[in-house]
Amino acid sequence: MFYVKTFLVLSKNVIKQMKKIIFINLNFVVRCVKTFNSTKSAWLIILPISIMAVSCSNFEPDAQADDQLLDGPIDGLTNEQNRRFLAGDVAFNDEVFTSATGLGPVFVATSCVSCHAGDGKGTPFTTLIRFGQIDETGNGFLDVGGPQLQNRALPGHTPEQIPAGATFSKFTPPANTGLGFIELVSDTDILAMADPDDLDGDGISGVPNWNHIPGYITIPSGAVVQSDKYICRFGRKGATFDLLHQTANAYNQDIGITSSFEPKDAYTGFDIDPEIADATVRNVVFYLQTLKAPIQRNQNDAEVMTGKVLFSQIQCAACHKPELKTGYSPVAALSYKTFSPYTDLLLHDMGPALDDGYTEGSAKTYEWRTPPLWGLGLSPNSQGGNFFLMHDGRARSINDAIQLHDGEAANSRKNFNQLNESDKKAVLKFLNSL
Ligand code: HEC
Ligand code: HEC
Repeated sequence: MFYVKTFLVLSKNVIKQMKKIIFINLNFVVRCVKTFNSTKSAWLIILPISIMAVSCSNFEPDAQADDQLLDGPIDGLTNEQNRRFLAGDVAFNDEVFTSATGLGPVFVATSCVSCHAGDGKGTPFTTLIRFGQIDETGNGFLDVGGPQLQNRALPGHTPEQIPAGATFSKFTPPANTGLGFIELVSDTDILAMADPDDLDGDGISGVPNWNHIPGYITIPSGAVVQSDKYICRFGRKGATFDLLHQTANAYNQDIGITSSFEPKDAYTGFDIDPEIADATVRNVVFYLQTLKAPIQRNQNDAEVMTGKVLFSQIQCAACHKPELKTGYSPVAALSYKTFSPYTDLLLHDMGPALDDGYTEGSAKTYEWRTPPLWGLGLSPNSQGGNFFLMHDGRARSINDAIQLHDGEAANSRKNFNQLNESDKKAVLKFLNSL
């Protein structure tokens, strides 16, 4: 069943690509007609292409509504911004690396899309393993292949193995949607949500991940610095600063592609010439920044609305914050917007069962960054019809995920479990609408 669903998702992607090509061709033909005014011969091209377009839509398993898809741009981009989005889309979704284009020699996968299909959540078949760091003093295994396990290699090279004595964590890919909004939340707003000493006594603290950041990052005005460390926010441990940091790292550590940003070869440890142009990396960053946020479904349904109120009452919203706002962005469609990610971008103690003994930045091994819940109900679309939730996909349903909440979230879990059946159902229906 998993493979059938995966095949359907893939074939939908193929159809989408074909439509893109047909759309571009139609534009071309229309331009030809205008230029040469040779209507007759143009129809010879238009007709077969139109027939292809129509028959493609007929093949489509079930055309999905806009609120089911995660991979479009945000509304309100200028033409120029749409062109950059498309260029990033092609690099992210269509570019598969080979040894001729710089792949490896050690790697985990050959393209971004192989782990981030349809920009939705990944599965235990697309995991990454990182190893070697147990506390904020840093990673002691960097000279033996850390922090990330490259478990595949080109012929003639040896794939890495986890070195003896190194603790590790498995991560499933999160969805890539709405990240441009998350990138623009100000440090001041993040700090306002933190409560390191639990002064309000609700059992929930929440701290940012303070981490060193690479020199190529442009530090935004208003960024808060503490002993040379900055507030980081991306990744399961919240250890990466922005989408450039995340993208340059992904090329380097996931695909073995060096760039001027991250020139160190993952295999030899030496700096080598860039295998990808800065412009391509920046286009991918722009693509991630302008991927739309998931759209809530059934938000006016009475049960969904009850569920939303209960979600706050039982303290879920203390970490999964319903509303955040962006600061200024040169992209008008992202600037000063209020959005609903259901996260505080902070780290929380989630208890011993979720402690893998591995960490990044200043996070403790048992601390995780609150993941956004938007798009939660769409997770199965990219997870082969199943749920694989929490950092390693161990939760097979939304209820499973709630039951794994411990540590700072233990009270909230207990509150959920004390609800009557119809209230529980309302909370789950609300979560599925996200
Ligand atoms: C081998 C699978 C794999 C490949 C290939 C891969 N990723 Fe990821 N990606 C992941 C996993 C797993 C995570 C979560 C890692 C973490 O939390 O630290 C992730 C996290 C991310 C995030 C952070 C999302 C968030 O909510 O914080 C972004 C952005 C991202 N990847 C972009 C990319 C880009 C761009 C590429 C291609 C250059 C890429 N990824 C290639 C597996 C992959
Ligand atoms: C103390 C902060 C906190 C509270 C309170 C909290 N959560 Fe979470 N939640 C987290 C963190 C952190 C994770 C990620 C843990 C991991 O990845 O292992 C998470 C993960 C989840 C996930 C899985 C998301 C995914 O994409 O994998 C769901 C669903 C969820 N929470 C729902 C809830 C609900 C419902 C409540 C209220 C009953 C709740 N949470 C209360 C912090 C919290």
